[in-house]
Amino acid sequence: MRLECVVNGEPRDVAGVRESESLLQVLRERMKLPGAKNACEQGECGSCSVFLDGKLVCSCLVLAGQAEGAEIVTIEGLADGDALSPLQEAFIETGAVQCGFCTPGFILAAHDLLQRQPSPSDAEIREALAGNLCRCTGYAKIIEAVRVAADRMTT
Ligand code: FES
Ligand code: FES
Repeated sequence: MRLECVVNGEPRDVAGVRESESLLQVLRERMKLPGAKNACEQGECGSCSVFLDGKLVCSCLVLAGQAEGAEIVTIEGLADGDALSPLQEAFIETGAVQCGFCTPGFILAAHDLLQRQPSPSDAEIREALAGNLCRCTGYAKIIEAVRVAADRMTT
């Protein structure tokens, strides 16, 4: 099967995709975009999150064929060239990144929240990140990072 879609603003055309392949597999293995991570492959951890036509999804649960003609944004598409996004900078500054495996998913979930709610409460941040699991940091620094980024983006 052939998959044509737009990823991070660039048209992509991938031939030979198996019907059983997930969007996550195609992004990582065929398009060489390793930002979305494969941790559980069951929709439980959020590490594989991407935007599919503007909606945050677990790419491990999306068949590649479902992305035909879609616009996809991965963590690689969030930075502006070498300039990190405010969320990416805040995660680094606050120590919200340890092994980093969960970080792309958290940042995309936080980005989704801040697009909807630029000044979220801590409860809203916790709720928005409830689908993302981190084995390393605990969640306090992650929530702090989102709060720091939100403050910077609204002042
Ligand atoms: S790898 Fe997709 S939700 Fe965990
Ligand atoms: S920083 Fe290691 S899993 Fe979250």
